[in-house]
Amino acid sequence: MSEQQVKPTLLSGIQPSGQLALGNYVGAMRNWVNLQQDYRGIFIVVDMHSITVRQKPADLRNRCLSFAAQYLAAGIDPNENIIFIQSHVPQHAELSWVLNCYTYMGELNRMTQFKDKSKRHEDNVNAGLYTYPALMAADILLYQTDLVPVGADQKQHLELTRDLAARFNNTYSPTFKVPEPYIPASGARIMSLQEPEKKMSKSDSNENNFIALLDPPDVIQRKIKRAVTDSAREISADSLTKPGIGNLLTIYAVLNDLNESGIVDTFAGRQYSDLKAELSDSLVAFLEPFQTRYHEIMTEKGYLSGILDDGAEKARSIARKTLSKVHRKIGFVAPGRMK
Ligand code: TYM
Repeated sequence: MSEQQVKPTLLSGIQPSGQLALGNYVGAMRNWVNLQQDYRGIFIVVDMHSITVRQKPADLRNRCLSFAAQYLAAGIDPNENIIFIQSHVPQHAELSWVLNCYTYMGELNRMTQFKDKSKRHEDNVNAGLYTYPALMAADILLYQTDLVPVGADQKQHLELTRDLAARFNNTYSPTFKVPEPYIPASGARIMSLQEPEKKMSKSDSNENNFIALLDPPDVIQRKIKRAVTDSAREISADSLTKPGIGNLLTIYAVLNDLNESGIVDTFAGRQYSDLKAELSDSLVAFLEPFQTRYHEIMTEKGYLSGILDDGAEKARSIARKTLSKVHRKIGFVAPGRMK
């Protein structure tokens, strides 16, 4: 058995909607990169999820490639991990149908993301938006995943995934590994820059609410400078719990590997404007090499599509095994066994 096969499996995904943003990096991707040494990583661009909200076809196509390139630019090693586009592996749709039949409407009714998104897209409250958590469970359970690094907003979906795995295992016999969430202690919920009471979202219609990982330095500086704080000017220990300034402190702390007391020690007694200036510098210093790598990858289209094709092939071979086990357990006749 190769070393890769004995490592536990880590899996995560991002919807190719909007622009990949700092919240996604801090809440999720950063931990993918940090944990990849000890796991067999599976990183998915979940395009099937993103069509629960209307997308422009050409934009969606470009975004799938751009997001995959950003996974690589962030430091995911394509030789050690599996990276692919969800729709290239049909077993996701197939398992999600089965799981839909084991998911109660009461459970789906409780999902806060469904409630939020149906309010935001009142003209398009479609069945996919509603049953989306069963597709997410399929993404995870197909690969016998051990660990799922995500931001705090995905906790509820992860709990449902665990319930579905346990339900199926108890109804038949052990089939799925029950995955553990990995939600970081700091940075699991990065807030909007202009409306710090709400989550930073990559598909926000107001681009001033988020830092895109591909924003140029002057845009980053402008967005941070304009970030909404409060009427105080000086940073103190309670700044950490205040909506706007607390969020900026958290971002700075995560990017500079500081804990709560470290960040307070660094900035206590200093002006909000100092923090903003230093945060902009940290962000630019971090994003410049990321963007350079990204642009290099994007100019080598053959390289990227090779990685995605290879990833999809590896994913299909793992996913097929789980799906055929599931089909057998629920009583589907195996193809070729009818004679
Ligand atoms: P998505 O595309 O909304 O977000 C991708 C990842 O970024 C995290 N995140 C945040 N973390 C901290 N602060 C924020 N403001 C912030 N905004 C987003 C999310 O928690 C997520 O980890 N349903 C998922 C995608 C998905 C998935 C999966 C994830 C589909 N299948 C299987 C893990 C495993 C979603 O919509 O994430």
